Amino acid sequence: MSENKILYEGKAKQLFATENEFELIQFFKDDATAFNKKKHEIINSKGVLNNLISENIFKYLGSKNIPNHFIKRLNEREQLIKKVEIIPIEVVVRNIAAGTFTQRFGIEEGKKLPETLIEFNLKDDEHDDPLISDEHIKVFKWANQLEINEIKLKALSINNHLTELFNSIDILLVDFKIEFGRTQSGNTKEIILADEISPDSCRLWDKKSNEKLDKDRFRRNLGGLIEAYKEVATRLGIDLSSI
Ligand SMILES: Nc1ncnc2c1ncn2[C@@H]1O[C@H](COP(=O)(O)OP(=O)(O)OP(=O)(O)O)[C@@H](O)[C@H]1O
Ligand SMILES: [Mg+2]
Repeated sequence: MSENKILYEGKAKQLFATENEFELIQFFKDDATAFNKKKHEIINSKGVLNNLISENIFKYLGSKNIPNHFIKRLNEREQLIKKVEIIPIEVVVRNIAAGTFTQRFGIEEGKKLPETLIEFNLKDDEHDDPLISDEHIKVFKWANQLEINEIKLKALSINNHLTELFNSIDILLVDFKIEFGRTQSGNTKEIILADEISPDSCRLWDKKSNEKLDKDRFRRNLGGLIEAYKEVATRLGIDLSSI
């Protein structure tokens, strides 16, 4: 989308302006990064798969009345989205212990948590996205208490829908990271789901083999990342004949 002005270049995506001030184009790159960019590789066609998978999941959540930024997919790598004011918090939802959580609390990977846990990390690469509490969010005014409550309710509802979706295709939803943003709807500001939901931002394990079907394949040098993402896409019913 060279004729559109680039507004933001992130690790995995680019954002472009459109003629409509309330809409943006989200472009999915092939870059894979982990450990706050200490590990970086280009993995051919990852962006195409994430664009398709994120489209599928956002449409599914839309059908379940979860308001989100997705408008339509434009091509292989781009989707039109509603522009939001991103709340600078990574909302992490955990069903099963994995990743940094296991190190932090000395818990074995794969242990089911007694209840779903929501964690917040500040979106701040310079400081390694620190873990924060509701109190930090309020003191620094990243969001107010009502917004925090709404974010938690939405995150749990998204977790219920996604757990059911992945369960139906024999995948365990271990954990995931989401972002929310504010949009103006009339006089009130609405909080909607934004960014992406893909195997880059979820931990997905095959229910029978426990095989990892997500970005941990890259983080842990397991190989077969594209095959895993294709497996997730195929099980979601996405047509991959064009890639
Ligand atoms: N609907 C939206 N409106 C405005 N910004 C958005 C929207 N959806 C996602 N974003 C932002 O677009 C950027 C996407 O780029 P990318 O995910 O590559 O960033 P990143 O390198 O991971 O950095 P960040 O830590 O900001 O996510 C993110 O900053 C994300 O917060
Ligand atoms: Mg990001």
